[in-house]
Amino acid sequence: MKKIIFATSNEGKMKEIREILKDLNVELLSLKDAGLSPDIDENGKTFEENAIIKAKTVMELTGEIVLADDSGLEVDYMDKAPGVYSARFMGEDTSYEIKNQYIIDQLKAAEGEERSARFVCVIACAFPDGEIITRRGTIEGYISKQISGVNGFGYDPIFYVPEYNCTTAEMKPDQKNEISHRGKALRAIHDDIIKA
Ligand code: IMP
Repeated sequence: MKKIIFATSNEGKMKEIREILKDLNVELLSLKDAGLSPDIDENGKTFEENAIIKAKTVMELTGEIVLADDSGLEVDYMDKAPGVYSARFMGEDTSYEIKNQYIIDQLKAAEGEERSARFVCVIACAFPDGEIITRRGTIEGYISKQISGVNGFGYDPIFYVPEYNCTTAEMKPDQKNEISHRGKALRAIHDDIIKA
């Protein structure tokens, strides 16, 4: 059976990935499953660069097909910050309650369309022959005026999706997976893996 490594140690992500790629008939391994803990410097300036750095590093270590993702929140009113720095924004150890309140405060004067934002996810696939492909998924929304919801993680409590009239932290996990940036990018790359 074909092996594919997904370069993450996040079990939540692995669950979502297994679900979306379940019909591929491949053995899908996390870094932990593959016995790897590479020290990767995510110093790219774009989601694409970071996803490629991760996928390529692990492919070169293992010789297997490797998938890797990079994701984050772009707030238009803040010139698309925190972007690729979403996890490190205001310091890795700062709580998301503080980060989320800070973003709300930054947008105090913003109304309507000025509050637009999106979650972005780029998945890179590095093949052993050196070929690399990337696919991007996004979900558009607005920064809410207050923190609400307890599901999800990170910036979910301030990411309002008008079609659902709630934040992504107020959605059930299955509902979020169906419309999420990560789900879209994974479904897009799914067809390329089948062809490989
Ligand atoms: P990474 O792709 O795991 O490095 O995630 C980057 C960061 O983007 C996370 O730590 C969160 O701050 C943010 N992020 C990415 N996806 C989501 C999401 O679905 N909800 C909330 N925050 C997210």
